[in-house]
Amino acid sequence: MTESNRIALVTGGSRGLGREIGRVLAKRGYSLVIGGRDRDALDRAVSDLSKDAPVVLPVAGDITDAQVRLRLIDAARQLGGLDVLVNNASELGPIGPLKSFDVPRLGRLFPVNVGAPLFLIQLALPLLSARTGLIVNITSDAATAAYPGWGPYGATKAALELLTRTLATELHDQGVSAVLVDPGDLRTRMHQEAFPGEDISDRPLPAVTVPFWAWLFDQNPDDVRGQRFAAQHEDARWMQRA
Ligand SMILES: NC(=O)c1ccc[n+]([C@@H]2O[C@H](COP(=O)([O-])OP(=O)(O)OC[C@H]3O[C@@H](n4cnc5c(N)ncnc54)[C@H](OP(=O)(O)O)[C@@H]3O)[C@@H](O)[C@H]2O)c1
Repeated sequence: MTESNRIALVTGGSRGLGREIGRVLAKRGYSLVIGGRDRDALDRAVSDLSKDAPVVLPVAGDITDAQVRLRLIDAARQLGGLDVLVNNASELGPIGPLKSFDVPRLGRLFPVNVGAPLFLIQLALPLLSARTGLIVNITSDAATAAYPGWGPYGATKAALELLTRTLATELHDQGVSAVLVDPGDLRTRMHQEAFPGEDISDRPLPAVTVPFWAWLFDQNPDDVRGQRFAAQHEDARWMQRA
């Protein structure tokens, strides 16, 4: 199915999972706004995604910068609106035991992984509301399981999960839906950072999640409101497309 004049914003769309989500949306005819700090990586993603997407607008900069967030939303407005907002950009932060965690570093992790998605949602709401839009917040199994060494990152994802569930109920009247997606272990830069020096070649590439995304973007946003999905879970709803 191809939609016309559909627009999606994917933070962290320059590589890894975000770029793969961008590919799925591009193949469905969406125009895209993609974000990330590394301009070269963004340019490479624009070349790749432009093979299918009608338009791809890159916005370079740190997601914690208010001006960058405004530019992301302005780019969507320039394209005509917003159907899908994917809050994918995230940082892992330091891995290690909480007893020796440098607590002030929470002052970086929470703004990136929780504050920026919420700011973006607030800015995007008028556009999303006009199109019965969908918010997709990317979470992790670290939000629900107590993995030694991953406490701060997991805490940010747990906070994002509660915000998302709350938003899903609060935004009902505005016709905007919000969902959580745990992509599962993926062979990306972030995953390599989580296992420094280890061979992660047994982890699948982000493309393993494509059947899930193809299924999700076929759904009426209202039907999935408030749900949490595990993209690599063998679920008949999307595995039959694999
Ligand atoms: N990989 C896994 O195994 C796994 C498992 C569970 C959940 N996840 C989640 O999946 C999502 C994507 O992760 P990934 O593995 O694809 O990571 P990745 O390959 O490291 O990609 C992260 C993306 O986010 C951007 N980004 C990071 N920090 C940013 C910032 N402060 N401002 C703007 N852009 C920023 C990066 O670009 P720049 O660095 O150029 O800014 C890049 O485009 C994350 O939410 C992660 O928590 C991943």
